[in-house]
Amino acid sequence: MLEELEALNDEARAELVEVADSEALRTWELAYIGRNGQVTGMLRRVGDLPPAQRPAFGQRANEVKNALQAAYGEREQAIKAAELAERLAAGALDVSLPGRPVLTGGLHPTTRMLRRFYEIWADMGFQVYRSRDVEDDMHNFELLNFPPHHPARDMQDTFFTTEKDVILRTHTSPGQIRAMREYYPEPIRVILPGMCYRHEQITARSEVQFNQVEGLAVGRNIRMTDLKGTIAEFARRMYGSDRQVRFRASYFPFTEPSMEVDVSCILCDGAGCRVCKYTGWLEIAGSGMVHPNVLRNGGYDPAVYTGFAFGMGPERMIMQKHGIEDIRYFWGNDLRFLQQF
Ligand code: PHE
Repeated sequence: MLEELEALNDEARAELVEVADSEALRTWELAYIGRNGQVTGMLRRVGDLPPAQRPAFGQRANEVKNALQAAYGEREQAIKAAELAERLAAGALDVSLPGRPVLTGGLHPTTRMLRRFYEIWADMGFQVYRSRDVEDDMHNFELLNFPPHHPARDMQDTFFTTEKDVILRTHTSPGQIRAMREYYPEPIRVILPGMCYRHEQITARSEVQFNQVEGLAVGRNIRMTDLKGTIAEFARRMYGSDRQVRFRASYFPFTEPSMEVDVSCILCDGAGCRVCKYTGWLEIAGSGMVHPNVLRNGGYDPAVYTGFAFGMGPERMIMQKHGIEDIRYFWGNDLRFLQQF
């Protein structure tokens, strides 16, 4: 039986050298030194021997088993190390590889321009008043002193709805009436930003929707010099202190007198270029003193109160600033356009 033990020992050692992974190692352990392994089995059979041979055999069998266990432990460590190295190599990262670019969204150019507006006008004491996009003829036209058959009421310009007397505002001016009726008899200094809608052919110059920023100041002593000074100050804050500002007589039903406001061209500084159509000036606003009828319609007695109003187009101003020639880019959602801002 001793020879059998030695042979088993040799066999086990020879096989252990061949064992290459944890699974094979486990199989080897079960076969030889596990609870039902062959070496363990021989130890149990010590009682089959004549008593005189038992101590020598037992001692040797224990030696063999302990030595195999130690060899097993070494092999186990080597295999684990090899397997770990293999896993690390397979999952290796090349940290010198350049990363994939991550696309980040950005604010729409109109949003950025509107925020600039809010900032400048807030500094000058104007708060934002949100008026509605959906209006009625009364606020959009009638209370703003539009004569009954004014061409702006024409089907060409206004989006009507299937609801009786529900239209989309064609400008932010109806908000003047709503602000006055809400604030009377307090003095007012507000801007009214928002989308306006016109039923027009979409071209490079005209969209069916666009933003306006209306301004309204009402009080007891507001004069045309206040309007001019306020708008000139806005233009300087928006475009720089070296801007020239000029006022041209114009007409709007809801202001009297009415003026259009130009700044010296921000691209050519007045010399004349494509963007200013070689005039040296860019139009930035319509404006005027609030018409007495409009003040009255807002609840303010025109014998006591006066006011000024203006309307600006942020998309138009962005086009001027960047020399953009087609207004359709604004709502086209073309990333090639949007990512440039
Ligand atoms: N509402 C006018 C427009 O749509 C602009 C404007 C506003 C003019 C306020 C004067 C005063 O063109």
